[in-house]
Amino acid sequence: MSAHEQPATDMSPEEFRRQGYQVVDWIADYLAHPERYPVLARTEPGVLRRALPAEPPAQGEPMAAILADFTRHIIPGITHWNHPAFFAYFAISGSAAGILGELLSAALNVNGMLWKTSPAATELEEVALDWLRQMVGLPPQFGIIMDTASVASLCAIAAAREAAGDAVRRDGMAGGPRLRLYTSEQAHSSIEKAAITLGLGQQGVRKIPVDAEFQMDPAALAQAITEDRRAGWRPFCVVATVGTTSTTSVDPVPAIAEVCAREGLWLHVDGAYAGMAAVASEFRWALNGCERADSVVINPHKWLFTPIDCSAFYCRHAAVLRRAFSLVPEYLRTAEAEQAAVRDFMDYGIQLGRRFRALKLWMVIRYFGGEGLAARIREHIRLGHLFASWVDAHPDFERLAPTPFSVVCFRARPTDLPVGPEEERDAYFDALNQRLLDAVNATGRAYLSHTRLRGRFALRLAVGNLRTTEAHVQTAWDLLQEHAARLHAAGRGGAQEKAEAPWKG
Ligand SMILES: Cc1ncc(COP(=O)(O)O)c(C=O)c1O
Repeated sequence: MSAHEQPATDMSPEEFRRQGYQVVDWIADYLAHPERYPVLARTEPGVLRRALPAEPPAQGEPMAAILADFTRHIIPGITHWNHPAFFAYFAISGSAAGILGELLSAALNVNGMLWKTSPAATELEEVALDWLRQMVGLPPQFGIIMDTASVASLCAIAAAREAAGDAVRRDGMAGGPRLRLYTSEQAHSSIEKAAITLGLGQQGVRKIPVDAEFQMDPAALAQAITEDRRAGWRPFCVVATVGTTSTTSVDPVPAIAEVCAREGLWLHVDGAYAGMAAVASEFRWALNGCERADSVVINPHKWLFTPIDCSAFYCRHAAVLRRAFSLVPEYLRTAEAEQAAVRDFMDYGIQLGRRFRALKLWMVIRYFGGEGLAARIREHIRLGHLFASWVDAHPDFERLAPTPFSVVCFRARPTDLPVGPEEERDAYFDALNQRLLDAVNATGRAYLSHTRLRGRFALRLAVGNLRTTEAHVQTAWDLLQEHAARLHAAGRGGAQEKAEAPWKG
């Protein structure tokens, strides 16, 4: 690439305007037709790396050439989370309002570490998080935006450890009491990762069994705490989940809060996905009991149409969180006279530098309004329940978990198998469903993911994208039925030739 004329500073405003219009046009076209792409990227490991020069360019290149490479090389390697038939993990979408917010925050490029490093960034964060808190029905409390729920939960557990005393902040963990945290066996891996990171170790996490509906058993929790105290552990924190990752089950937070109050333990609630359901009044129950939690995290980047990343972390003990994290070097000191009037967000978490994430969240909330957001969440739940009803009505499919929100766990389970040991039938169903998942995803017309429930391979269909309609859910269902029938017939065909049960084929 030959050198081209560039101003000595940055791109000229005229060129920015020209390129910017092109980029916005590209985005508008993309969002209008994400279905022209396969949902799951059709690529192989290393394709992009090989397509790009190994060495950085010594001379600047024209933006037009860079953007051409974006569409030529980058886009084919993208899995399209914006595709309305993206049903994997927790489906998300960055709404247009949120994208515009990201653009403006990139343009301002402020660092909101202190109030004074951009007062509006801090105050908008306070306002937007307070709006969101009201929308989901949490009581007034401190709120801060973190990048992810993983980091928010880590900070919550650090605050819980601080609240337990023991001068861990000063002395570290060595030689102190053996601290233990409790969470259900269905909790997200971020909780255990936080424990590893904070030096509690995996031994410092006790996983509490769940009931038939995948919800933490509060009696088992109480018993575990008693046993641990006798064995010399120091229980300090319980993490309940509102919307577990596999099945979206909701732990009984009121009963867990009762145990925590009795035992003097910090209660953190991970509501990364399902906390947002509470925006719709008939799903307010999802956060029942959370008014008693010491901290709660909910994720606008999961189910509130805010571009990733944006996680809302609420804490009823801002002073404890501050005690856990505040460490102020002289050059960042806020004048004493100002300290009482302002919040320096760097004091409440790990990072110093902070993006202006509140702008996109504020714009999303304003653009849709509380009722608009609730209507979209309600529709996603309707679609999830509709899909669940199709599964329930089909003789060769079964649901593997309740469907409280917009995620359905299910599997193909053909009924025409010869009688045989349950484990062998399950092994056949596991293999069949794995092949079914791969086959449906390979069509590029829908993308689902999986989990394992009580040892069984389960398919997961998650509705959460703004553009998903009933037609997209129907397409996924048609594909699932068609490929399940084909794969099962092939399995049975092979089995008949060998005159054996298909799971032996
Ligand atoms: C229940 C739950 N908690 C936490 C997380 C982690 O979220 P993040 O990617 O924001 O760290 C997830 C991710 O799916 C989740 O399902």
